[in-house]
Amino acid sequence: MDLHVSLETGRLSAGVYDQLRAAILDGRLRPGDALPPTRDFARRLDVSRNTVTNAYQRLIAEGFLVGRIGAGTFVSDDVPALRPLARRRPGASPLRPHASWADTTATVEPATAASHDFRIGVPDAKLFPWDAWRRLVARQLRTPRSRTAGGYAEPDGDPALREAIARHVGLSRAVRASADDVLVTSGAQQAFDLVARVLVERGTTVAIEEPGYPQVRRVFAAAGARIAPTPVDAEGLDVAQLPARARVVYVTPSHQFPLGVAMSLPRRLALLDWAERTGAAIVEDDYDSELRFDGRPLEPLQSLDRAGRVLYVGTFSKIMLPALRLGFVIAPPSLMPALRAARALADSCGTLATQTALAAFMADGSLARHVRRVLRTYRERRDRLVDALERELDGVMTAIPSAAGLHLASWFDDRRTDTAAVVRAALAAGVAVDSLEPFYLRRSRPGLALGYGAIPRSSIDEGIRRLATCLRRVRS
Ligand SMILES: Cc1ncc(COP(=O)(O)O)c(C=O)c1O
Repeated sequence: MDLHVSLETGRLSAGVYDQLRAAILDGRLRPGDALPPTRDFARRLDVSRNTVTNAYQRLIAEGFLVGRIGAGTFVSDDVPALRPLARRRPGASPLRPHASWADTTATVEPATAASHDFRIGVPDAKLFPWDAWRRLVARQLRTPRSRTAGGYAEPDGDPALREAIARHVGLSRAVRASADDVLVTSGAQQAFDLVARVLVERGTTVAIEEPGYPQVRRVFAAAGARIAPTPVDAEGLDVAQLPARARVVYVTPSHQFPLGVAMSLPRRLALLDWAERTGAAIVEDDYDSELRFDGRPLEPLQSLDRAGRVLYVGTFSKIMLPALRLGFVIAPPSLMPALRAARALADSCGTLATQTALAAFMADGSLARHVRRVLRTYRERRDRLVDALERELDGVMTAIPSAAGLHLASWFDDRRTDTAAVVRAALAAGVAVDSLEPFYLRRSRPGLALGYGAIPRSSIDEGIRRLATCLRRVRS
């Protein structure tokens, strides 16, 4: 316990007493907490040991502390925390963030007690290779390099991981990059944050898919951008509707988030052509490209780009776990020094042990094997969900065909459906689903996004049956 105590000369013992008593009453010191030995505490406060002993004895006599012979002095189990910590003087005006931070919507998925969890964005933690990962991280911590590493790591990430990522996306996605083009980030989210720092000034127009990924919208808005929601149709982003003044365009061409459509090749070429003409940057978010079930994936914008306009962002959140916080951005050489500096300013560098563990996991082929294994499971779940929707909700809800990822978007056939009421009724019946509404900045079309990352295949039919019952109830 390292309690801060400040003392005035003249009332040393009373000062120690007052501050310990206050710490107990406002809950900073809790029942059972051990107090420092009197000799250590006195040395730290630069007072005599008697001063501290007197204060402890007074608090013991009043029942705040208890002394246990041979063990030390502890906060008594019988003292309740009487008043909450007073944080500021009543009437003092609180500090406020600037206007770009008006939207402070939390993004952490609230825990749900739903027995049938179709929420999107979460992979199945049971599929994570826990044993292999534990062994790899332990091995990284045993290496002489990590035991002697007292300083900071490189801001652009572990060199072996950058090499492994360049190879991985080169083989699996035909992305043209060397290790020098890769900046390892704390998930895709940090990549977006760094890109916003180096490309956005107050008032810069950033075009975002509509509907689109709210976390990207928020990160650019917080950097001062003017957000231009640009519609998505069955071929992906409608390039013809991009505002000419946009300096940055954010897209999810492989698997549009949240609708799930793939951007057609003519649209990809049109977007690249548009960016070359206008000088805008394209942020290509390839967040779940490993999870492709059917068909041949179209080439990423990055590999079609001949003008150095594309920043390619990837993540290990879907294929591994979101809490690992491992992602990357592959940017044109002209942007790399600024991105590297932005990362150094944001958090210096990442966590070396997980980066080197992932590099080893990729280098020996374990990641490729893991992807094949989870792909099989997720494909079975996706197929089961499509069948269940057709069986239970034909004529009520239409799923948008999707060849990849961990979720399926579906429109309500009746556009007057009250989506919020459906979501509420479903949750009451133990089924957690997401409305498509929060993904729109403007007028939304009613529908649901149904994830199959967190739900076992055996629960899908029952979950959709319950959802169908709720929908009938809400519509009647
Ligand atoms: C569209 C999109 N991009 C990226 C991500 C991944 O973000 P991160 O790597 O920060 O976990 C997600 C996660 O839900 C997402 O939906």
